Amino acid sequence: MRATDPRSLGDTRAMAQSMLLDETPKGSSEHWRSCFPEIVGRSPPMEKVLETVWKVARSDGAVLILGESGTGKDLIAAAIHRLSPRSGGHYVPLNCSAIPDNLLESQLFGHVKGAFTGADGKAIGKFEYAQGGSIFLDEIGDMPANLQAKLLRVLQDKKFTPLGSNVLMDADVRIVAATNMDLGQAIREQTFRQDLYYRLNVLPIHLPPLRERTGDIPNLLEHFMEQANRIHNSQTPCYLSDALVARLSAYDWPGNIRQLQNLISRLVVMRGAGVIEIEDLPAEMFARPEELRLTNPPVASSQPLMRPTTAMPLPMVQHAAGVRVPQDFTSLPEQGLDLTQYIEALENDLIRQALERTGNNRNQAAKLLGLNRTTLVERIKKRHLTTLNAPSKEL
Ligand SMILES: Nc1ncnc2c1ncn2[C@@H]1O[C@H](COP(=O)(O)OP(=O)(O)O)[C@@H](O)[C@H]1O
Ligand SMILES: [Mg+2]
Repeated sequence: MRATDPRSLGDTRAMAQSMLLDETPKGSSEHWRSCFPEIVGRSPPMEKVLETVWKVARSDGAVLILGESGTGKDLIAAAIHRLSPRSGGHYVPLNCSAIPDNLLESQLFGHVKGAFTGADGKAIGKFEYAQGGSIFLDEIGDMPANLQAKLLRVLQDKKFTPLGSNVLMDADVRIVAATNMDLGQAIREQTFRQDLYYRLNVLPIHLPPLRERTGDIPNLLEHFMEQANRIHNSQTPCYLSDALVARLSAYDWPGNIRQLQNLISRLVVMRGAGVIEIEDLPAEMFARPEELRLTNPPVASSQPLMRPTTAMPLPMVQHAAGVRVPQDFTSLPEQGLDLTQYIEALENDLIRQALERTGNNRNQAAKLLGLNRTTLVERIKKRHLTTLNAPSKEL
């Protein structure tokens, strides 16, 4: 579907509200298309998801969206609110992993003056702001234990108390949560409360990774090409060669749609105008996981699509970020190296290893690396790190 779909979100909200009066949703793809103009992809797995989203939006229970990073969880959460009877209220997203633990509670529930050092005035929290609407708790698996207990109480009692206050306030808010974490494992490791999981998981939505809906790839490529051409060079648009579309349709996209979107804008910026070919792809897209490790043998020079990024001699290892790092990481190669890139690649590799070893548990990985969790999570996000073997592929 094209980005230039004339149907605005406002129209679809009105349509959704009138359709709430209808009985069962019509199942045709035309029907879903009209309800989700911002969501590209009508492969059978995606149609199933959209049908679930449609049904879930009509009810008022807590929703848990599960899926690898970059599969569109934010987009789905926003669509649930837009198509729900609460769409007249605020939609308030909050990323639990992006906010330091000590600030998260006040962000969620607000605080009164003097509640803590530096609280020199009252502040309204997300729950108060979202009254009558929906709150989207992204990366819920990263919520610290004390707040999990408080959130559980909100879900049970539909009430909350701002920090430093005794006043119980109504929480007339629909909670939509999302995570790319294996919550089953987090429960077994006692980093996530089982009772909270059951409370949140009333209406689960599983977003399949892009490799399980490859039929959507051509439409997504077209959509993001239009978007990138519009943003970067509307005068002299770029096009993808047919061979490149075929190649990208066969790729497994560990970073899912976010990776595809980023790749397209990178290709459009780099190419400037004209046809983008397979040769324009970055080398790291063709590195195999085992080639990304420091301990493995060097990349075979016969890799068909591997384009060397530097002229450094072997033994070197190609990293996901396209940086080549000596296998013996204490020796300085003859012709030197880019120290900043080198240190970053080394760090990335160790972060991946820590995440793999802990089954993607960021708290434990942070402990293994002697970092605090927030620092680790920030680094993972900033560098768009992708795990190799951990359950959720991008972190
Ligand atoms: N089906 C889709 N159609 C169009 N854009 C999408 C789709 N799914 C994801 N995106 C885009 O891809 C990016 C990543 O999606 P996001 O919802 O942030 O993923 P997640 O929350 O699962 O990590 C966003 O820019 C989003 O708008
Ligand atoms: Mg997200």
